[in-house]
Formats: sequence, structure tokens, C-alpha cells
Amino acid sequence: MNDRFLRACRREPVDATPVWFMRQAGRYMAEYLEIRAKYSMLEVCRTPELATQVTLQPLRFGVDAAILFADILLPLEPMGAPFDFAKGEGPVVHEPIRTSADIDKLRLIDPEESLGYCLEAIRMLRRELKVPLIGFAGAPFTLASYLIEGGKSAHFTATKRLMYAEPEAWHRLMGKLAEVVRRFLRAQVAAGAQALQVFDSWVGQLGPDDYTRFIAPHMRAILSDVQSTGVPVIHFGTGTSTLLELMAQAGGTVIGVDWRDRLGEAWGRVGYDKAVQGNLDPTVLFAPRSVIQEQARAVLLQAATRPGHIFNLGHGILPGTPVEEVEALVDFVHTETSGPHSRVGSSPRGSSGPKD
Ligand code: CP3
Repeated sequence: MNDRFLRACRREPVDATPVWFMRQAGRYMAEYLEIRAKYSMLEVCRTPELATQVTLQPLRFGVDAAILFADILLPLEPMGAPFDFAKGEGPVVHEPIRTSADIDKLRLIDPEESLGYCLEAIRMLRRELKVPLIGFAGAPFTLASYLIEGGKSAHFTATKRLMYAEPEAWHRLMGKLAEVVRRFLRAQVAAGAQALQVFDSWVGQLGPDDYTRFIAPHMRAILSDVQSTGVPVIHFGTGTSTLLELMAQAGGTVIGVDWRDRLGEAWGRVGYDKAVQGNLDPTVLFAPRSVIQEQARAVLLQAATRPGHIFNLGHGILPGTPVEEVEALVDFVHTETSGPHSRVGSSPRGSSGPKD
């Protein structure tokens, strides 16, 4: 069992920096596209054998963790808001939630009953995997934005209108989403997930005061509960430069950092009592290999051999990313951080980094 990833989550010394990628299974891989030629995205998610097969595909790159193949939007359908992935447009929620009455109708689901296919995929994966399995869910704000806007959004106008104009309704919606997310994450741990990531991908749309008032209480409710199961929880967002301290206070064992921040500075703000994950710009993978390696080394130097860094991109792998660069990057991070000739980190760690 390769437990580098779990050790790094706990800020223990590791033999090499662990690496995995958000969206590591997906359209940039030929094997994935082959399956998608036969089945829709939702069919893959809802068929445990297919979800398992796709989850395993990127492991040939040598990544140190697997992430369940699923989507953050899956709980919305059983809650009463069916959606589809429209070609070229991304997710479309058929009847967006706009009123207080719409919010009242949303159901608090039992994950074993309505998302059992994800839990079954987790059980199947645990029988095969030699690396830890990460389960995940979307955070209430990011889920609410899809529910309210009906899909992806540029300005989140309808979402913020509800938040500012009807704060009571907003908190009711966030409370329901937080409860569903909490139950789903707990069910994933019970099924065998060894770590969790909460994706608050669009929360960087908010400033710190709105985060404190409209988001933080709901994140705290989720994170304190699921962290009490003992599995590490990665709290991730993008565009979060002004929110990192608040996110860390809201909870999480590991804080995800995107590429707009220097990882070392971000870590200082998060606090060294937490691990960090990140933060290469996903578009760097389209650059020549020498540039990828230079930028990856810069990320590793920011982590400065301090225990508790998980190498990742600042957001998910993009479609069209060259597969051979993904594989070369995994190898580079491992080689660069292991062995007696390591330039940026080696075991035992912690002596040459910046002081706390
Ligand atoms: O990381 C992984 O490998 C696990 C699988 C995963 C997917 N989505 C698969 C997927 C995870 C963790 C997600 C999370 C997710 N889904 C987020 C948060 C993370 C992020 O990237 O910010 C969000 C916002 C969604 C909602 C969603 N689902 C979007 C915006 C899209 C993209 C639509 C498009 O066409 O680009 C999806 C679809 C989706 N989810 C795909 C995959 C592989 C593409 C489906 C396909 O066409 O094959």
C-alpha cells in the first residue's frame, strides 16, 4: 500500500512528495473517450463497474491517490433538481431553484438509497486499489450556484441576488445542501473512502465579509462533522487569495491552493498546522517540458521540504492536455523530491525550510 498521500495529509515525513490531479480521469485520455463513445457521462457515473474502470485509468501515470469518478452535481437529482450534461455547454439544471417555495421542496436525501451507485463503486475500488481512494462532494455555495443559475455562470447574479435579497431563504438553502453533503461524505467514508475533498470551486466569487456571513457557518457544519470520522479532508476552492485564512478557519485537514497564490505564502496564511495541496497552473501542462519542470520545481521550492505538501494542479486537468506530459510530471515530482540527490526535498524532511 502506497500511503504517501495520507502521510502528507497528516503532515508526516514522506519518501517523496505525493502527487495526484483533480480531474485525473477525463477527456484528455483516449481510454476515457473510448468509454464515453459508448456511454453518457451520467451512465458512467451511475454504473459502478464503469465508474470503477474510469477511476483506475489514470493510475498508470503513477499518481499517489485515486479519486472516485463521479460528479459534484449527482446529489441534485434525488434532491429534486434533475440536470443533464449538454454537449459543449456543461451542466444544465432543468428547473432552476429561484424561490423560497422551490427551496422548501428540495429533499434531504439518504445517500445509501439515492446515491448507492457511488458507494458501490467505492466498495469495488477498495478491493482493487494500492493507493488511497479520495471521495468528494461539492460545497454548498458551488452547488447552489448550479441550482440557482441552472448551469455555469459568469457573474452569479441570481445566486447573489438570493443571498443579498433573501438571506433567510439563502441560509435555508445552504443548510439543506450542507446536510446532504455531510450525509453523502459520511456515507463515502463508511463505504471505504480514505480521504475526502470538498470542492468549493466558485467560492472565490465572494469577498471575505460575504464568505464569513453567508458561507463559513455551513462549511464549518460539514467539515467539523466529517473530520470527526478521522479521515483527512481537503478543503478546495479557486480564486481564494483573499479567503485562505477564512477557509482554513472553517475547517479542513488540507487546504487547496490555486496558482494565483505562491504556495509558500499561502501556507503561511493557512497556518502550518494544516497541510496544503497545489498549485501548478493547469495550462502549464501545454508548455514545453522544460517549462513544466521549471514551474513544478518552483512549486516544490515554495513547499520548502516542509512535511504536509501534496502536489496537484491549482484546478482540474483541462481537456486536450498532453497525456505524456502528465505522466512525465508525476515522475518529475517523485524524482525531484526523493533520494540522496534530491534538490528540493528529501526524507527526513523539515530541517531546511523557512522557520514557522
Ligand atoms: O477529479 C476527478 O477525476 C473526479 C471526477 C470529477 C468530475 N467532476 C468528472 C467530470 C470531479 C471531482 C468533478 C467535480 C466537479 N464537477 C466540479 C468541481 C471541480 C471543478 O473542476 O471545479 C464542478 C464545478 C463540476 C460540474 C461539472 N461537471 C462541470 C462544470 C463539468 C464540465 C462540463 C464540460 O463539458 O466541460 C462537468 C462534467 C464532468 N465532470 C466531466 C468529467 C470528467 C466531463 C464529462 C464528459 O463530457 O466526459
